[in-house]
Order: sequence, then C-alpha cells, then structure tokens
Amino acid sequence: MDIPTTMRAARIHAYGGPEVLTVEEVPVPSLAPGEVLVEVLAASVNGADLELRRSGFDGYYEPPRTLGIDLCGVVRAVAEDVERLHVGDRIHGRRSSAARGTYSTFAAVDADDLIAVPAGMEDSVAAAVPVVGLAAWHAVVEVGRTAPGDRVLIHGAGGGVGFLAAQFARHLGAQVIASDVAEAHAALRDIGVTEVHDFRTTDVIAAAGTVEVVIDPVGGPVTDASLAALSEGGRLVSLVAEPDQDTARRRGVTATMLDSWMDRGHLARIDELLVAGAVTLEVGEVLPLEEAARAHELAESGAVRGKIVLDPRR
Ligand SMILES: NC(=O)c1ccc[n+]([C@@H]2O[C@H](COP(=O)([O-])OP(=O)(O)OC[C@H]3O[C@@H](n4cnc5c(N)ncnc54)[C@H](OP(=O)(O)O)[C@@H]3O)[C@@H](O)[C@H]2O)c1
Repeated sequence: MDIPTTMRAARIHAYGGPEVLTVEEVPVPSLAPGEVLVEVLAASVNGADLELRRSGFDGYYEPPRTLGIDLCGVVRAVAEDVERLHVGDRIHGRRSSAARGTYSTFAAVDADDLIAVPAGMEDSVAAAVPVVGLAAWHAVVEVGRTAPGDRVLIHGAGGGVGFLAAQFARHLGAQVIASDVAEAHAALRDIGVTEVHDFRTTDVIAAAGTVEVVIDPVGGPVTDASLAALSEGGRLVSLVAEPDQDTARRRGVTATMLDSWMDRGHLARIDELLVAGAVTLEVGEVLPLEEAARAHELAESGAVRGKIVLDPRR
C-alpha cells in the first residue's frame, strides 16, 4: 500500500462539549523508534476520551489534540527496530498514554502496545475491548483478587467496564451482585447475573449485604459508600475516584484507585475468553469518523447500550 502524506483525524482545538470535536486533514505521523504505522479500521469511544475533550484531565493534556486511546487496524509500516510486528498484521491494543489519539485514518503506535487480533474477531469488537477489557481484568483479577465463592458487587455493571467485570468475576466462580439502570438489566440476566439492582430506585449497598469485592466504575458518593459493604479483608477497586483511606483502614479493608495499563498477556487472555464465547462484549453503534462528535453525544446521553465505535473507512 502507498502511504498517503495526509490523513483525517477527529481533533479538539479547545475543551468543551461534543461540538469541539471536528474532523480535519493532518499529516500522517512519522515513526519514532519502536513504533508501527497502523491503518485504523476501528477505534472505540471511552470515558477517558470524553474527559479529555471536556477538560484534558484538568488541563494535563492541552489542545490541539487527536482523541482516542484504543484501536484495531492493519500495520502498514514498521520502524527499523521493530521485530515482533510486520506489515500486514491485523492488530489491536490501547495506547499507554492519551497523549496521541486513535480517532484517525492512520496512527503511529508503540509496537509494545499492540497484539494480533484473533481470527474471527470483528474489527469493532477488537477496537472496543482493550481499554474496558483491561480495566475490568485489572480490577477483578489483579487488584480485586477475586476468588471462587466471593461475593462481588459491581456498580455500573451494564457499562463498558462493568459488563466485562461481571463476566470475568463469574468466570472465576464468584457470585455477582450488579447495579445499573433498569435498561441494562436484561443484558445482565443474559450473562447469568441473577442479583441485579436499579441504583435509581434501590439502596444498593443495603440490598447487596456483605461482599468481598466491590468494583466501582462510577465514583461520586458510590465510592466511599461502598466501603460499608465490605467484609473484613475485602477489596474496593475504583476506576474513577481515590477512596477514603482512613475509613478503609478503620474497617480493615483495602481500597484502591486503579489506573489500568496496557498488558499484552492480559489482553491476549481476554481475547481467548471472547473467542471461546466465555464472555461477550456488546457493540451498540458503529459510526463514521466524521460523526465523532455525535458519537460523544450518544456516549454522554447514555442512550446507546454497548460500546460506541468509530470506523474511519466509512
Ligand atoms: N482508571 C482506569 O484505568 C479506567 C479504565 C477504563 C475506564 N475508566 C473510567 O471508568 C468509568 C466507566 O467507564 P465505562 O466505559 O464502563 O462507562 P459506561 O459504559 O458509561 O458505564 C457506566 C455505567 O454506569 C451506570 N451508572 C451511572 N451511575 C451509576 C450509579 N450511581 N450506580 C450504578 N451504575 C451507574 C451508567 O448508566 P447510564 O449510562 O444510564 O448513566 C452506565 O451503564 C469512566 O469514568 C471511565 O473513564 C477508568
């Protein structure tokens, strides 16, 4: 393939609402050592993209900037020192940092952040899984240390992270108690979760009883309130907020704010489970790159259940 000199990218030039996300023509990036040039087949919308657009994480990432963290694509060029990946490989993964995006027709990505996509996995699923899949894996397995028979309370269990977390916990032999809006309950029952609560109408902490693990991709009052549900030695893992350590210590539990990371072995394990049908990931909507702003609008409205994916080829 002849690599063009310019590409389309969905970028922000100021923080703000979805309308600040516009598609423009920019140079195709050149490769630094360790990188590969990926022709992007799909990139998914994640909570971090929304936060980056709204505030750059309190100004840490300044505009102008291309958004997007995870992707599925085909390797079109490799830096001289890259040996593990080759031109033509179909790969997926997540960037280790949000500094450079994936909402674009090409992306220069650190080869260490990518693995081969298993045969039979669709581009949209391959793009949707890395950020939420690794976050769910790290929360349930690595930090939550979920064991067979544990009771695991999962807030936001119908969301990107929570839905996979619920399935990983069940796969490990744990008993899942799920909390989310009523619209998400049917999908949760479909994956075998029998104890499902609507946080809008139920005091979830009281209804859950005592649990060994809490997974919190919601934050706000949910994070610290969850400490009360843990048995002694229990583990709270929040994806969004730093839990109150004094309360955690007093109650004899651990409470961690998890910053998930790219791990090729963990992503490969998640892929195996997806391909085997042991877990599923729902893609709710696939939109052209040009509709990146609408994709953010939909993600923020909560109107779409399942992951939202951008397809730059449309
Ligand atoms: N730290 C990390 O490494 C890491 C990694 C990945 C994601 N995250 C963060 O984790 C958060 C969740 O990501 P996601 O992709 O799972 O988001 P998501 O797909 O929007 O899922 C969140 C779910 O929680 C539901 N919800 C809202 N308030 C709730 C409450 N009080 N109790 C129970 N459920 C509630 C939402 O319902 P509605 O949609 O109806 O509101 C939605 O179904 C985001 O803030 C994201 O940035 C962090």
